[in-house]
Amino acid sequence: MRIIVATIFPDFVKVVKEYGVIAQAIEKGKLDIQILNLRDFTHDKHRIVDDYPYGGGPGMVMKPEPFFELHDYCGRTFGEIYTVLTSPQGVTLNNKLAMELSKKKNLLILCGRYEGVDERVKNLVDLEISIGDYVLSGGELAAMVICDAVSRFVPGVVEEESVKRDSFYNDLLDHPHYTRPAEYRGMRVPDVLLSGDHEMVELWRTAESLKLTALRRPDLFLSREFSTQEKKALVWLLQELVRYVERRQDSPDPLSGSGKRW
Ligand code: ADE
Repeated sequence: MRIIVATIFPDFVKVVKEYGVIAQAIEKGKLDIQILNLRDFTHDKHRIVDDYPYGGGPGMVMKPEPFFELHDYCGRTFGEIYTVLTSPQGVTLNNKLAMELSKKKNLLILCGRYEGVDERVKNLVDLEISIGDYVLSGGELAAMVICDAVSRFVPGVVEEESVKRDSFYNDLLDHPHYTRPAEYRGMRVPDVLLSGDHEMVELWRTAESLKLTALRRPDLFLSREFSTQEKKALVWLLQELVRYVERRQDSPDPLSGSGKRW
């Protein structure tokens, strides 16, 4: 897959290519990220990309010509492209959308700036995307977020198993993770993770995901169709809860000995 970012701040955006799994995937040839400077598609001495708004008002508006010329160039160079524009007025990015975008051969991300872009640019755009209900100074950070979220779904960028376990894949929040040491400053890793019992570990992870989703995203939990494993995990969770309450009635210290319990 190829992602092309059109921006007036290429040095800012290029950082997205330089670290972690994205850098490795580019190195392995699984992913290509091209960053194009909109100013390279101007023809005046000062490489101007913005102008005053017709009708007056504050701020500047990005001119249409550099966007159209850049889009033409991408079509000529890369073939078929799917074009998105970063904008607080767009549809909000989520994992499902990121996955859909990862199936495109060429994804062109146009970064908006200033007060907005000339409305005619929207004729080039298949989808406007927002990364949340807040206003950024420009679309560059949004484009970087889109690059990262989309890249994770490109085969070979991240292990398939990790993607499936990510929060929001499958509309569930992720379970907690632990590494060594088994005890740190009195905080113990849950016994089940040290048990070597893979089936119980999976059940615990499913239960933790469901618990977190129910508490933090009840909307996702309530609209879920539970798998057999998830139903088992819910039953186990309930049993653990009952055991915990019973222990609490027996002893003033319910956490005695076994670390964090739920
Ligand atoms: N540009 C400014 N704010 C934005 C946002 N929240 N999402 C995408 N692009 C933006």
